Amino acid sequence: MASVTSLSDNVQQHLASALSATLPEAAGADPLLRRSDRADFQANGILALAKKAKANPRELAEQVVSRVVTGDVIQDVEVSGPGFLNLTIADKAITGNLAARYADETGRLGVPSAERPGTTVIDYAQPNVAKEMHVGHLRSAVIGDSVVQLLEFTGENVVRRHHIGDWGTQFGMLIQYLDEHPHELDHGGAEVSGEEAMSNLDRLYKAARKKFDSDEEFKTRARRRVVDLQAGDPHTLAMWQKFVDESKIYFFSVFEKLDMEIRDADIVGESGYNDMLAETCRLLEESGVAVRSEGALCVFFDDIKGPDGNPVPLIVQKSDGGYGYAATDLSAIRDRVFNLKADTLLYVVDARQALHFRMVFETARRAGWLNDDVTAVQLAFGTVLGKDGKPFKTREGETVRLVDLLDEAVERASAVVREKAQDLSEEEIAERGAQVGIGAVKYADLSTSANRDYKFDLDQMVSLNGDTSVYLQYAYARIRSILRKAGEVRPAARPELALHAAERALGLHLDSFAETVREAAAEYAPHKMTAYLYQLASLYTSFYDKCPVLKAGSPEQVENRLFLCDVTARTLHQGMALLGIRTPEKL
Ligand code: ARG
Repeated sequence: MASVTSLSDNVQQHLASALSATLPEAAGADPLLRRSDRADFQANGILALAKKAKANPRELAEQVVSRVVTGDVIQDVEVSGPGFLNLTIADKAITGNLAARYADETGRLGVPSAERPGTTVIDYAQPNVAKEMHVGHLRSAVIGDSVVQLLEFTGENVVRRHHIGDWGTQFGMLIQYLDEHPHELDHGGAEVSGEEAMSNLDRLYKAARKKFDSDEEFKTRARRRVVDLQAGDPHTLAMWQKFVDESKIYFFSVFEKLDMEIRDADIVGESGYNDMLAETCRLLEESGVAVRSEGALCVFFDDIKGPDGNPVPLIVQKSDGGYGYAATDLSAIRDRVFNLKADTLLYVVDARQALHFRMVFETARRAGWLNDDVTAVQLAFGTVLGKDGKPFKTREGETVRLVDLLDEAVERASAVVREKAQDLSEEEIAERGAQVGIGAVKYADLSTSANRDYKFDLDQMVSLNGDTSVYLQYAYARIRSILRKAGEVRPAARPELALHAAERALGLHLDSFAETVREAAAEYAPHKMTAYLYQLASLYTSFYDKCPVLKAGSPEQVENRLFLCDVTARTLHQGMALLGIRTPEKL
């Protein structure tokens, strides 16, 4: 089924044609239509247009009004104030349009899909091998996953890349240590859990570090190992692979806890670009984008200077010949642009890496790999803070382990579910507890705009009142329970019925779901979706308070209200899915 034009798009078109008929030079101008408290919509665009045309705004507005076709969709339009237009939508148009969304058998609620989609390569969920995941990795994974869902829902081709930190000098130390203590990572062929894998790695890392710091000869052997690794010595590479495999067991267990699908094929870590590094440097040097400075290959920027006023270069190759983070990222850009054919490169990475990406993107532009048609964006996210407003640390001052946080969230949520549970078995309580707890963590992360810091406050996150996922999940479960109670009576749209003010407000908000998807995807802004859903649940609550559903005045009204309930439930379910959050049928 084709997509459904929203009422606001429809009204917008009506207004635009009345406007250009009145004032031909205003063709294509935006009437600036907004939802309004005074009427259903208000258009404020005429003021600026009148000014430009040196016309009287009220007179111009009157002329536009006389040309607006009223009837099926726009019931009423009038001029207000200095030249605003107030528009009222016909009840039957509200119900009718929702009915068209409801009838969309693809389950997309009539949301359009791009006719000519682009390709976005998104770099997210990129933890580091042999290291524990912390809250920073949570943000990249949660925001990235939601942006993937949003983009795919609009029809965009999305290629996922998990740029894990699987390369670097610390591997020399780790490999050398493992070589000298060969059984440290063995588990006799038995399957290990994620936590076990992590504690093996952690133990090994600590022991290797201790030896590295205290034993000069070991240090020398470890350094030689880095050279072997970079030279591709097969035995060294095989050892390195063990670390990567062990870490992946752990990563996958954390992603599973996060209820997130991460595919092995999409994990292309830093090491995946090794073969391209020398070529990347050659291209940059030959084109003059990078220059040798004190033996290192550097790119300089006029506007990037250190505290001493000297330019800070991007170092592509160190003076000892080694390649670092920048060379890898530049090679990844070449891969994503020329092999994966991306139009957009999106990086969901901590704001503290903003300077790195600014320099990398500018370098790629100078090299011609990025241009007006192929662009790169860092979706930079802020820091997770503790309740005290300082970067989140344990009481001992260590970074907080992500798994501990998730476990605690699930525990708290399970307590909330248990307390409210009416007819849930123990097993169901455990399952719902996980869905509510993980949902709470994701929602809190997504509901402020990504670039801002936010406080990790579990009490607030699992609260039943307020802007939380639990509130939305309960709203969904309550609607589902009403629909079950309705039994034989099925939801059905009755466009002939007049609507209560609370029904109109709910209906008009439901109608703007497609716009919210469009905006949230285009701006990489999942928080626009959370805000939309929260308002939806609030409008539903006031509808439910004011308009009896199963005990409504007539059988037709019962059906129509059940219909509003069902569209609300489907929209909540779809919207939450775009955030990576489950909506259990019963809570
Ligand atoms: N592994 C890095 C970290 O933990 C993030 C990688 C970001 N992606 C990239 N292409 N540099 O900080």
